[in-house]
Amino acid sequence: MRNTSDLSLFLGQMLRRPQSVSALMPSSERLARAMAAEVPEGTGPVVELGPGTGKITRALLEAGIAPSDLHLLEINDDFVSFLRLRHPDVHLHHRGAQDMDRIGLPTARAVVSGLPLLSLPRDLQRAILEAAFRLLPPGAPLIQFTYGPSNPVPGPLMRDLGLVAERGRRVWHNMPPAQIYRLRRPAA
Ligand SMILES: C[S@@+](CC[C@H](N)C(=O)[O-])C[C@H]1O[C@@H](n2cnc3c(N)ncnc32)[C@H](O)[C@@H]1O
Repeated sequence: MRNTSDLSLFLGQMLRRPQSVSALMPSSERLARAMAAEVPEGTGPVVELGPGTGKITRALLEAGIAPSDLHLLEINDDFVSFLRLRHPDVHLHHRGAQDMDRIGLPTARAVVSGLPLLSLPRDLQRAILEAAFRLLPPGAPLIQFTYGPSNPVPGPLMRDLGLVAERGRRVWHNMPPAQIYRLRRPAA
């Protein structure tokens, strides 16, 4: 029953706001668990971008990340209301991912992105990546999945920010199949 209401909320928002939701379905549990498994062990803030109905949020919590360490940034009013009820104990910020370095965190352990990076305008992509790497120290990852064939961050932006990309797992059990990437500034 709970899954049905998650799914109908997601599909309704996908029809109303196709550019910002930009996915046919929420992430599968396998993709959500694979994304959560990329977060380095330890303590410290973990920032999740574009949580939607919270598939990855739940996987992050199940992976042992403390609710008090978890910061979500979501722009969609209906997803925010839903997440507030579903996860009252995490930090939920009703604002754009590009503002992640303005929510009072000095640094983050990882940024986990469920954003449709390829569908976002170039200037917004850049603003989001710049904000992420103001927050992430060298070595700490931005974890992003894509449905596309290669790294979703454009080459010029990779070079400007001094980033390296590593491929993580490919998750076939998702609609459509997804590839995980880890992006980081090399540790000194
Ligand atoms: C493809 S859906 C992913 C939802 C969820 N993470 C999942 O994997 O099922 C993209 C999500 O990003 C959100 N989003 C789009 N642009 C955003 C932005 N600039 N800042 C924060 N969230 C954004 C949408 O509202 C939506 O919840």
